[in-house]
Parts: sequence; structure tokens; C-alpha cells
Amino acid sequence: MTIVLMGYMASGKSFVGKVLAKKLDYNFIDLDDYIEKQEGVSISNIFETFGEIYFRKKEAKYLKEILEPKTNMVLSLGGGTPCYGNNLYLIKNNPKIVSFYLKANINTIVLRLEGEKVKRPLLARFRSKDQLVQFIGKHLFERNHFYNKANYVIQTDQVSVNRIVEDIILKLF
Ligand code: S3P
Repeated sequence: MTIVLMGYMASGKSFVGKVLAKKLDYNFIDLDDYIEKQEGVSISNIFETFGEIYFRKKEAKYLKEILEPKTNMVLSLGGGTPCYGNNLYLIKNNPKIVSFYLKANINTIVLRLEGEKVKRPLLARFRSKDQLVQFIGKHLFERNHFYNKANYVIQTDQVSVNRIVEDIILKLF
């Protein structure tokens, strides 16, 4: 089985994925980390040097590659992964995949992302909190449509990582 975690930036995909994989004794792959390892540069660097479209092509290529092996794994996607190309189709049409949307509300997301803008190429250009709130609100609204296609939606606001992992496991077994 492959457990796919999707959701907006800072929704806890990587952290939850790691804890969940450990608990289930599954392999863990973070798609962003995988891309950085394969390409030998940071995601920010890819965006800066080659632009977003180039990044999306790499993201789609590595997603396909990761989904091929048959071993049990937890895969944390990048925030935009399910929203481009046929990535969501690949995930939804693979009977071995169970997908989860880790849902966080806009206040939680803004709070978490405010101090982390440098690491997020899509957000680095926003100077004020107001700009950030406006952008994230609109972006989240557009992306919710894709995230909501996950098999399960897990609410994560003010919920501990252990509780989120328990919620996921309850849906699985
Ligand atoms: C992106 C989210 C990032 C990373 C890239 C683009 C997005 O991943 O893939 O910066 O489009 O939301 P995280 O959600 O892990 O930050």
C-alpha cells in the first residue's frame, strides 16, 4: 500500500508522514526532498534558475518514478503536486494508493508560513502579512478543489501530530 499525504504548504505533510511511516514500519519519501536529491539543488534554486514550469515537469517525472515500486510507503507530496498535469489522476487511479488531505485553515497556515517565506519560492515575494494572507486565501481556495479529491480529509488545526497519525491509521485499518 502507498499512503499519499497532500495539502497546502505547512500543513504538516512531511512531519506527519515521517511519524506515520515509522509507526507502520513503511518506507518514507518526501517528494520535495527526493527532487532535491535527484537534481542536486534546492527547490528554491530550481524555481530561481529554471522557473516554475520546469519544476512542475520534474515534479511530475519524479512522482511517476516514486509510484512505480511495489513496497509499502508513505509519500508526502509538495503543496502543488496534485494540482498540476495528471498527477492527481495517477494517484486516484492507482488501487494501491490511499490518499489523505491534511487540512489546515488559513490562520494556521499563515502563522506557520510567516517565518518560513525564504524556504518557499512561491511566497518569498510577499512583503507584508496582508499580502501573504490575501495570496494564501485565494491559492487555498483554488487548490481545495484538488485536495478534496483525496480519499480522506483529516482536520489538523490544533491537533497533535500523534493524534493526526492515529486518525489516519483509524481510516486505514
Ligand atoms: C509548492 C510547495 C512546496 C514545493 C514547492 C511548490 C507549492 O512543497 O513543492 O515550493 O506549489 O505549494 P511543501 O508543500 O512541502 O512546502
